[in-house]
Amino acid sequence: MGPLSAPRCTLHITWKELLLTASLLIFWNTPTTAQVTIEAQPTKVSEGKDVLLLVQNLPQNLIAYIWYKGQKTDFRHYITSYVIDAETIIVGPAYSGRETVYSNASLLIQNVTQKDTGSYTIQMIKQGDKTKGVIGHFTLYLETPKPYISSSNLNPREAVETVILSCDPDTQDVSYLWWINGQSLPISRKWQLSGNNRTLVLFGVTKDTAGPYECEMKNPVSSSRSDPVTLNLLYGPDFPRIFPSFTDYRSGDNLYLSCLANSNPPAEYSWTINGKFVQSGQELFIPQISTKHNGIYGCSARNSATGRECSTFKMVIVSGFMQSMKQDATHRRTNVSCYITTIIISLEVK
Ligand SMILES: *[C@@H]1O[C@H](CO)[C@@H](O)[C@H](O)[C@H]1NC(C)=O
Ligand SMILES: *[C@@H]1O[C@H](CO)[C@@H](O)[C@H](O)[C@H]1NC(C)=O
Ligand SMILES: *[C@@H]1O[C@H](CO)[C@@H](O)[C@H](O)[C@H]1NC(C)=O
Repeated sequence: MGPLSAPRCTLHITWKELLLTASLLIFWNTPTTAQVTIEAQPTKVSEGKDVLLLVQNLPQNLIAYIWYKGQKTDFRHYITSYVIDAETIIVGPAYSGRETVYSNASLLIQNVTQKDTGSYTIQMIKQGDKTKGVIGHFTLYLETPKPYISSSNLNPREAVETVILSCDPDTQDVSYLWWINGQSLPISRKWQLSGNNRTLVLFGVTKDTAGPYECEMKNPVSSSRSDPVTLNLLYGPDFPRIFPSFTDYRSGDNLYLSCLANSNPPAEYSWTINGKFVQSGQELFIPQISTKHNGIYGCSARNSATGRECSTFKMVIVSGFMQSMKQDATHRRTNVSCYITTIIISLEVK
């Protein structure tokens, strides 16, 4: 049985006539559901492909089949019908041009789109039946596409910025699930899911909530997961430390200091001696120091992405040859201070 092509202009029977015939034959009553089965072939179909809604166990003595989009058997949802005696196809308002009904009642939908997902109803009208006919329902799902995560901000500043993640594409008849660090999203006040769970709002992202995130799209026939997305958290610098920590040097020693502060992106460092700028860079090297190098050495770490700057200080005491100085413990204490050097104004663009 091949597809029957029947352009509108050659129709022998109109919808009106069909209904008239039916109403003459049938005393309208509640529909009955028989052992009719409908399945999709193939069971998994992706956008752009063809699918056949295969009807099996057709009742005997049928005069026509009518396909509807949705659950309702009304004219607005009428796609196409087949009148058996006349071997005629009639199309209705819900016909998209891609549906073909076969003489065995199966419906071929070509080049399916997301809009084709959802329920379909077939109404089978029997000769002399005093009911609304035999009704069959089927729900068509497409194979879910591979989703991807979009972020309102991929580089949030730690603890201060709200980030909105969304799982795209926005697709009908699927449920969305989120994963963090490979685990399903635990209930937490740190985030909030939107109505259909497609978007995830993160309040004040911290190292714990920077990800990696994955999202999943799921329907009864398939599921697919996105690639992981990790937010590049901007933080720091935290308190810088100067190495080595000892303060006592001998005249003629080489002074080699380095400074380290946790920061993302990495901090820019600079050095001061007794409050005067000496150089930038993470390390400070002065060969063959003498007592004139005594002083308070400061390291400053700055992160222009967070606008934060932190400084720390260390005493350097150079003693002369064979001479030993006793230091008060208070002099060894380092002193750290941090402040925001830049006010960053960020605009969230959706
Ligand atoms: C109905 O016809 C179509 C097209 O010829 C065919 O692919 C399908 O298998 C048929 N269905 C049944 C139940 O035989
Ligand atoms: C399928 O549909 C798309 C969009 O509706 C269209 O661009 C494409 O040409 C169609 N393909 C075929 C084979 O009909
Ligand atoms: C959204 O997710 C929550 C928890 O993960 C779940 O309980 C709920 O049913 C989901 N809602 C929808 C519309 O999928």
